[in-house]
Amino acid sequence: MTGTGEEKRMDDLLRYGRQKTVVVTGADRGLGYELVRQYLERGDRVFAGKYRTNWHLLEGLKERWPETLDIVSLDVRSQESVRRAAELILQKTDAVDVLINNAGVWLDHDTGTILEDRIDYEAILEQIDVNALGALRVTQALIGAVLNSFDQLVVNVSSEAASMTECAKDSQFGYCMSKAALNMASCIVLNGIRKRGGAVINLHPGWMQSVIGESAKPDAPYCEPARPGEVKFYTTPEVTARGFLKILDEPERFSGHMPGFVNYRGDRMNW
Ligand SMILES: NC(=O)c1ccc[n+]([C@@H]2O[C@H](COP(=O)([O-])OP(=O)(O)OC[C@H]3O[C@@H](n4cnc5c(N)ncnc54)[C@H](OP(=O)(O)O)[C@@H]3O)[C@@H](O)[C@H]2O)c1
Repeated sequence: MTGTGEEKRMDDLLRYGRQKTVVVTGADRGLGYELVRQYLERGDRVFAGKYRTNWHLLEGLKERWPETLDIVSLDVRSQESVRRAAELILQKTDAVDVLINNAGVWLDHDTGTILEDRIDYEAILEQIDVNALGALRVTQALIGAVLNSFDQLVVNVSSEAASMTECAKDSQFGYCMSKAALNMASCIVLNGIRKRGGAVINLHPGWMQSVIGESAKPDAPYCEPARPGEVKFYTTPEVTARGFLKILDEPERFSGHMPGFVNYRGDRMNW
């Protein structure tokens, strides 16, 4: 159904009769912020991971939704920070319907090719630490609450950069390897929770205008294929988040023996 946030919320209540509890990591800005905003708008309860201390968009949301938003300090690279964040969340709820591992980094100086003597191993390690291990740390800390919920859903914000079959790059080892590792973590997590009813889905946001996607042209024809027939779209956090929410209301459409791997429009991605 289309229409206002309130209409959507009513539609959800009629369909599900309940409020979801959602955790979003890396929620200060970009896609994470927009996911938080849209879940709050339709009446769900959200725990938003705050990483950047000098960025205050989330506090604006807190003023609007004081009852349903909790802002939680969270650096996914730090085991201790993840432990403390999980403790705070678990003090307030024992069930997390949807855990969205959105926090991510793309280090633009990671451009060395195999023929050059300038592959930046520190940058590769940092991207793997945030993008792959970060999601694993948070998932492990909250998996009990996820499995205790109605939806039992782990969402990993992946990328087309993870795709082996579509890989055309000769650099960006760190980002591509980190997202491929994230996809593999999704498979292993799913194997671990399937029998308990848990599900995992990997979502590709599209080429999205944000800090990470800054090279998406500001005047790009958003939501149009980059080239005719191409499953690569210029998009915005607002449009992508709307697509994600729709997918995450019916994740069983995309999951099976393996986790789903789909873009924000619901097109299946190649592994
Ligand atoms: N934009 C695209 O075109 C695109 C394409 C494919 C996949 N993605 C993925 O989509 C997700 C969202 O990215 P975005 O485009 O919205 O970029 P973004 O605006 O940079 O958002 C990423 C968020 O993660 C936070 N973060 C970074 N390191 C963190 C850490 N150690 N712990 C917790 N949070 C941390 C960032 O904080 P700071 O801003 O302070 O660093 C930021 O708030 C990422 O996983 C990204 O890889 C994006």
